[in-house]
Amino acid sequence: APDLLRRLRESAAGGSSSIDKCWTTPRAVALYCPPNPLPRCPAIQYIYPQMAEVIPIGSDHAGYQLKERLIAELRALGYEPLDLGTHSPESADYPDYAHQVAARVEQHESDRGILLCGSGLGMSYAANRHPGVRAAVAWSPEVAKLAREHNDANVLILPARFVSEDEGVEIL
Ligand code: RB5
Repeated sequence: APDLLRRLRESAAGGSSSIDKCWTTPRAVALYCPPNPLPRCPAIQYIYPQMAEVIPIGSDHAGYQLKERLIAELRALGYEPLDLGTHSPESADYPDYAHQVAARVEQHESDRGILLCGSGLGMSYAANRHPGVRAAVAWSPEVAKLAREHNDANVLILPARFVSEDEGVEIL
């Protein structure tokens, strides 16, 4: 917010502004704080330990392009995407990526994850084999919202061949 930014800058410059507690991310600090303000910035003790949520994300070849777009969106939103592949549009087997993302959620290394394939179905079959994983295919923002609010979904699955890139971002 502009006011917070102004106070951060003033505080970092040794001015009269002070910030008691600031919920933000390392990315926001990197973007908005002036170079090397941290030693003099009273807010640093609150800002810096506030780590961005790591969100594992994976796809097969059908979801690769949308995955790349969502990774950029996640970063812009202040999250730290963990890209578990695939890393090219070459043909790839969806279970390899479903199991990697789902295993992180199952083992409580991450609270939430994202998977993409053509229809969303293969990813959901594989991810939902993991105890504690509730992977939901969402083809609209409304379905995604229902999956969170009514079904406590913790893995979002996007059917990349049935949503546009912009729709995928909206669903995210
Ligand atoms: C790949 O062609 C496609 O079958 C896969 O992405 C997915 O839709 C499987 O469920």
